[in-house]
Amino acid sequence: MAIKRIGVLTSGGDAPGMNAAIRGVVRAGFYHKVEIVGIFRGFSGLLNDEIKVLSHRSVSNIISRGGTILKTSRCPEFMTYEGQKRAVEILQRNSIDALVVIGGDGSYRGADVLSREWNFPCVGLPGTIDNDLNGTDRTIGSDTALETALDAIDKIKDTVNSMERIFIVEVMGRNCGYLALKAAVAGGAEQVLIPEVPYELPDICQEITEGYIRGKASWIIIVAEGAGSAVDLAKKITDITDLETRVVVLGHIQRGGDPTAEDRILGSRLGVAAVDLLVKGESGKAVGIVCDKVNLVSLEAACSPYKLDTSSDLKLIRILT
Ligand code: ADP
Ligand code: F6P
Repeated sequence: MAIKRIGVLTSGGDAPGMNAAIRGVVRAGFYHKVEIVGIFRGFSGLLNDEIKVLSHRSVSNIISRGGTILKTSRCPEFMTYEGQKRAVEILQRNSIDALVVIGGDGSYRGADVLSREWNFPCVGLPGTIDNDLNGTDRTIGSDTALETALDAIDKIKDTVNSMERIFIVEVMGRNCGYLALKAAVAGGAEQVLIPEVPYELPDICQEITEGYIRGKASWIIIVAEGAGSAVDLAKKITDITDLETRVVVLGHIQRGGDPTAEDRILGSRLGVAAVDLLVKGESGKAVGIVCDKVNLVSLEAACSPYKLDTSSDLKLIRILT
């Protein structure tokens, strides 16, 4: 069946560069003479029929903007059989032949269900700051989020060094320590705590105390949100070491801001690749970039548990501290 109309939606946590990907999809649709419709607010918007044709001009000047012009959401209803059945009916009623889903692992699972269980053509683009999807070196938004975290850490460092304190900086990453690990290396932090690697607080406190005795009174610990609350950690460190601690939780700031050049290029390349694939009749694939080449894996493989390679960065931090 020739693909005449493709829907595009963003789902789950927003990520800078999603707009570049939407623009890529729309402009590639124009190139292939395929109509592109935007589905607003992710799978929730699909279930509410929030669907609008996206013209060539509708995506002008969005490549540099953070967030997503299509909005995004989390949609428990789409996880049910009834919700999915209704979603397919709405897609068919709107003459949508295929779907581009831009999101994280949860959104990929939704796209996988549509393509395998409901036989509806779907491809996924990796849109998450967490960088926790298989089949791509980077996810859209992870580079911008890392730069944002780094900018904050650099500023924190000025006050840490001036007042000789211990700072605990919490970055996003519920299940994946990618942002924490890279921010720790790039920010010259003394320690990093990530969900992938268990740690003993007394050991960390001993290192801090030994450093203090050697005359090292400034200490930055980066903690991924999934490895413990920075507020709790700070209190425990003060209790054990009797040293003053301060806390910064970077939170959703990391999801905002203008996308970096890398995220704009990544989003643009992947948006175009997604339409190419659907036009060729592909489905059930996640599109990524590996070693600067477009790379395809099944949606199922892309959202299977991600294994972050931690050893080389952890070693680096140990040597550099
Ligand atoms: P992200 O895509 O950023 O990981 P979520 O995990 O919240 O974000 O997933 C986004 C949405 O994807 C969910 O709200 C739900 O609508 C859909 N989704 C997630 N998991 C599944 C699943 N197993 N089956 C169908 N849909 C799913
Ligand atoms: O998946 C992206 C992410 O920003 C995670 O790093 C974080 O744990 C989560 O989303 C936060 O979700 P919410 O926007 O629902 O607070």
